[in-house]
Amino acid sequence: MLKPSSDAPLRLARYNAPHQALHWLTAAVIFTVLPLGWVMVHMAKDAPHRGLYFTVHKSFGLVALALIVARLLWRALRPPPPLPPWLEKWEIGLAHATHFFLYVIFLVMPVSGFILSSASGHPVSFFGLFDLPQMAKDEALSKLADGIHIYGQYAVYVFLAAHILAVVWHVAFRKDGYIERMLPEQVNAE
Ligand code: HEM
Repeated sequence: MLKPSSDAPLRLARYNAPHQALHWLTAAVIFTVLPLGWVMVHMAKDAPHRGLYFTVHKSFGLVALALIVARLLWRALRPPPPLPPWLEKWEIGLAHATHFFLYVIFLVMPVSGFILSSASGHPVSFFGLFDLPQMAKDEALSKLADGIHIYGQYAVYVFLAAHILAVVWHVAFRKDGYIERMLPEQVNAE
């Protein structure tokens, strides 16, 4: 179905406030975790504050995990609004697939990160406040989780890029106000 013409006012069904808050918090946390990960793995082993970078990366990674779990629970309780009726079938399929794989990879990354650290014998501290329960030492498991974590980052880039390109597609080409679904209603909106 085609997008309604400009004289037919768009009534987009929005995500509710907790969905929106959890979405933007997740985005902020992920865009903190990624650069910390890039920088810390290239630091000299004896660089000052290297341990701090690792602790902050791990801690924000755990915050990301908590946010993703909260989002899944909230989705189950309050399903997202239906997609706009003017979207083509392929757009709907791509949107659902991208969202699904974003949830999967943002569960896989923190869990593999935790296992790779903990099973190698390194305690995982939450911002230096307390340590998480430690796993039994298992070098093979830690190596497997390390591989998943390192290669998993490429899946993160692919799905994040697809997600952001979809926004560009809607804002620049479709011009259908789609991004408004994830923003609070403007006071002066018509
Ligand atoms: C959404 C959550 C996460 C994302 C997107 C993420 C992403 C990354 C990235 C991009 C790297 C750099 C990989 C490289 O270029 O070599 C990295 C490394 C690492 N991450 Fe994470 N991470 C997340 C959560 C966690 C968590 C929760 C932990 C631990 C509790 C963790 C522990 C580590 C460790 C120890 C490394 C270094 C791996 C190595 O040197 O082989 N990460 N992470």
